[in-house]
Amino acid sequence: MKILAIETSCDETGVAILERVSGDSVTLLGNTLASQIEIHAQYGGVFPALAKRAHAEKIVPLLVEALDQAELIEAVEEPIHLDENLLSFLDEKESTLKEYLVPFLTYYKKPDIDYIAITVGPGLEPALWVGVNAAKALSLAWDIPIIPINHMEGHIVTAAFLTEDRKKFTLSPLEFPLLSLLVSGGHTELVVAEAFGAYKKIGQTRDDAVGEAFDKIARVLGLPYPGGPAVSKLAKEWRDNKEPHLFDLPRPMLHSGDFDFSFSGIKTAVLYTARDLGHEMTDEEKRALAGSFENAVVEVLLKKTMNAIKEYGIQTVIVGGGVAGNTYLRSELTRAVKEVFPEVTLLFPEPWLATDNAVMIGMAAMAQAFSGILSDQPLETIRANGNLSL
Ligand code: KG4
Ligand code: ZN
Repeated sequence: MKILAIETSCDETGVAILERVSGDSVTLLGNTLASQIEIHAQYGGVFPALAKRAHAEKIVPLLVEALDQAELIEAVEEPIHLDENLLSFLDEKESTLKEYLVPFLTYYKKPDIDYIAITVGPGLEPALWVGVNAAKALSLAWDIPIIPINHMEGHIVTAAFLTEDRKKFTLSPLEFPLLSLLVSGGHTELVVAEAFGAYKKIGQTRDDAVGEAFDKIARVLGLPYPGGPAVSKLAKEWRDNKEPHLFDLPRPMLHSGDFDFSFSGIKTAVLYTARDLGHEMTDEEKRALAGSFENAVVEVLLKKTMNAIKEYGIQTVIVGGGVAGNTYLRSELTRAVKEVFPEVTLLFPEPWLATDNAVMIGMAAMAQAFSGILSDQPLETIRANGNLSL
């Protein structure tokens, strides 16, 4: 069984091809990703109209590249005649995508693919729609069913696949209940699952997502978008050099007694701290501020995660989303879980799969296939939903 997976929920266009080899094992046949970081960097965040256009221009070239990697692409001898009405649903809002799709579908044969997995939400709706419409067009042209995937489930499932190398993955047998700490540019939430597909959100941010806070702090420190890795690098230098602790920042909602978060207060505190210095921040001050910020954020994430493990009798913890690539969060959580709950399994995604990509969408579809609950749906019911929840 082969799955073609497409991801366009935010500022990364991804196309991947996965094949189930045996049991719960998967081979990654093709994997391509186009980042829009340079397009959005000047705005300090994602600009929706530009994101939509970049996805529309990138999907088909990435698809060709991924199929080529998978050795699944074959040019036709005679151009294929496309029914005029087949792609007319793209005319109004997806004309750019259509311009790329028509020659692709005219000059290449239908590949040996069984399903198309597509991110339907949550995310930026205009961006999501490009992927959804591309998947629908391919589904119609090739007569292949679509598997709609929740982006957050992709982040969760990715950490459950153990990698031998960058090509072979095996779904590890997990013990439930499972707790997911989902930390990305758009989300900060704690989710308890009794099985894959049966999720209950127990807490979430009331304002900014943690990745968003990293991105905003980066701007204060004069660092490029996306800010997470850059802020984290400064914080690490501060810690490694054992430089002085210059700033005290709040730990919002640390003792709130629930599993909710709030990060806009820390962001404001960083802003005021920088302003109150009354001078241009020195490099040492920047490192100290980045470090104090990362300490505060990680302390809150850690405390709530530990509380949730206890309260819900958790057996497995998965950290997912872009911020799961944060090395300080990884090391602190690993240390704390080992110390307090040695019987609990803690899983992180491979760093190269932590931020958005299409492999994770294919993995979520594979996990559905393994459990026999593949939810292919009639095309007309498949819609992008920016606020889709687990
Ligand atoms: O999951 P993701 O790729 O996209 C969303 O679905 O949002 O997450 C991107 C977010 C960005 O806010 C980025 O700054 C943050 O994850 N991020 C990090 C790190 N790597 C990415 N934050 C902290 N430390 C990192 N190492
Ligand atoms: Zn994400």
